[in-house]
Amino acid sequence: METFQFLWIICLLSAELICGEVAQLVHCNAAEREALLDLKMGLNDSWSRLSSWHGTNCCQWSGIACHNTTGAVLVVDLPNSSGRQPLGGEIRPSLAKLKSLKHLDLSGNNFAGKIPHFLSSLENLQYLNLSYAGFSGAIPPNLGNLSSLQFLDVSYWGLTVDNLEWLSGLLSLKYLAMNSVHLSKLGGEWIEPLNKLPLLSELHLEYCGLSGFSYSLPSLNFTSLKVLNLQGSLFKAKLPTWLANISSLVSVDIGNSWLTGRIPLGFGELPNLQSLKLNYNLKLSASCFQLFARSWKKIQILDLSITGLHGRLPTLLGNMTSLIHFDLHFNYIDGGIPSSIGKLSNLQYIDLSLNNLTGSLPDSIGHLKNLVELRLNSNLLQGSIPSSIGNLQRLTTLTLASNKLNGTLPASIGLLSELSSLDVSLNKLTDGFMPSGSFLPFLA
Ligand SMILES: *[C@@H]1O[C@H](CO)[C@@H](O)[C@H](O)[C@H]1NC(C)=O
Ligand SMILES: *[C@@H]1O[C@H](CO)[C@@H](O)[C@H](O)[C@H]1NC(C)=O
Ligand SMILES: *[C@@H]1O[C@H](CO)[C@@H](O)[C@H](O)[C@H]1NC(C)=O
Ligand SMILES: *[C@@H]1O[C@H](CO)[C@@H](O)[C@H](O)[C@H]1NC(C)=O
Ligand SMILES: *[C@@H]1O[C@H](CO)[C@@H](O)[C@H](O)[C@H]1NC(C)=O
Ligand SMILES: *[C@@H]1O[C@H](CO)[C@@H](O)[C@H](O)[C@H]1NC(C)=O
Ligand SMILES: *[C@@H]1O[C@H](CO)[C@@H](O)[C@H](O)[C@H]1NC(C)=O
Ligand SMILES: *[C@@H]1O[C@H](CO)[C@@H](O)[C@H](O)[C@H]1NC(C)=O
Ligand SMILES: *[C@@H]1O[C@H](CO)[C@@H](O)[C@H](O)[C@H]1NC(C)=O
Ligand SMILES: *[C@@H]1O[C@H](CO)[C@@H](O)[C@H](O)[C@H]1NC(C)=O
Repeated sequence: METFQFLWIICLLSAELICGEVAQLVHCNAAEREALLDLKMGLNDSWSRLSSWHGTNCCQWSGIACHNTTGAVLVVDLPNSSGRQPLGGEIRPSLAKLKSLKHLDLSGNNFAGKIPHFLSSLENLQYLNLSYAGFSGAIPPNLGNLSSLQFLDVSYWGLTVDNLEWLSGLLSLKYLAMNSVHLSKLGGEWIEPLNKLPLLSELHLEYCGLSGFSYSLPSLNFTSLKVLNLQGSLFKAKLPTWLANISSLVSVDIGNSWLTGRIPLGFGELPNLQSLKLNYNLKLSASCFQLFARSWKKIQILDLSITGLHGRLPTLLGNMTSLIHFDLHFNYIDGGIPSSIGKLSNLQYIDLSLNNLTGSLPDSIGHLKNLVELRLNSNLLQGSIPSSIGNLQRLTTLTLASNKLNGTLPASIGLLSELSSLDVSLNKLTDGFMPSGSFLPFLA
């Protein structure tokens, strides 16, 4: 049982290539068995995770899988997992004798010292995960010799790099994560070696202290890039317009990154974009109208909170029909809430608080049957609260405080059985109504 589960996880991670090929029922080759036993000798395995590492057939040891016909070791999968003690000790060079190795995962363990330089001789590696494994210091540039590598994860705050040139040798790379690695010394040129990787589909450089962008690229080679995550950078600079030329982008997160200037208009035209987060960039500006003027039919997550977004929400908002999470809180948005918002039937979360929205709450808000949170506090909204709000059966949070709403709280609010947080304070609501029934004990 455990065996099948383990192989299934490998298939999930390394997807296509290794999956069908690995097995644990074949017989192990003696030299590789010796290499694994030597590797075990160097490890501090206080939780006895490697207790199955004895006997002749190493293909049946935990975390090991072999080629289904030759018996060559293809997989060494030893991530720290929940409820266990991490492995520690030393990674001995005997590991490099596993010449056929395609998948190596040592993530989350408690090793010390540098990433072993001999990993670069495992030339068949397709998946290498050394994230949060305790290795520190400079990432060895000779990892750039692993030309079959498709997935590389070296995220860890203890690691550094002097330049990224070596990455341009990883021509098969599809997924790169270097979260928390110190990249602040690289200036704006960090993007250039990455632009040479034609298959790169996911790039995760969160909290690396990236400090700038190259504004002109001779040509754009990111033809496969779908996920770009650079949150927590220190750009203190504008977003380059070429970002909006990467038409394959599906998800972009550059929140909390000291961005300035305007959001390039082309962002509104990215044909495949489903998630855009540029939140918490106080000096980043854009006009709502320009951003939403194009139709973003596929966008599901839009978070432009705590930026300098200004202007009015256009009627075309109602065309973003895939929208699930809509957060524009703490901006400079004025004008009314277009009644076309009622067409966004997938919406689960709306936060437009801390703006200058005027006018009344559209009746159509009652059409948002999937809404879980509605936050509109600290605006200039007036008129009465539409009783259609009682249709929002999934609503748990309703925050309308600090507006100029008048009239009485509609009785239909008493029908919201999931509601656990209601704040309508600091308005001009008149007293005299308490929702009937016992759904809202917190109001008593
Ligand atoms: C071994 O793997 C290959 C490649 O996935 C597959 O075509 C073949 O059927 C497998 N052989 C056995 C005996 O499972
Ligand atoms: C092995 O790991 C345990 C727990 O992590 C630790 O207490 C012990 O000192 C380590 N031993 C060696 C020899 O490193
Ligand atoms: C290893 O996993 C255990 C259990 O989940 C966790 O408590 C520990 O922090 C992890 N160690 C590392 C280095 O991630
Ligand atoms: C590497 O391992 C960590 C922790 O085990 C996991 O969260 C991360 O997704 C892995 N990276 C890749 C590329 O699979
Ligand atoms: C790649 O390996 C060759 C020899 O195998 C070595 O000469 C070269 O320096 C290595 N490249 C890198 C980037 O380390
Ligand atoms: C784009 O990729 C091609 C081949 O993959 C390479 O020759 C070219 O130098 C790359 N362009 C840039 C700007 O890196
Ligand atoms: C981006 O697209 C614009 C307009 O299509 C084009 O003029 C520009 O050269 C492109 N930039 C790059 C770096 O490809
Ligand atoms: C917005 O939606 C309306 C109908 O729902 C449609 O007529 C209009 O063409 C759409 N506008 C754009 C720019 O897609
Ligand atoms: C709202 O409008 C007032 C006056 O028009 C202005 O002083 C204030 O800065 C605006 N606040 C926001 C958050 O836009
Ligand atoms: C609520 O305010 C609106 C506009 O400010 C006003 O027209 C209306 O008469 C007010 N209604 C009540 C019940 O005070």
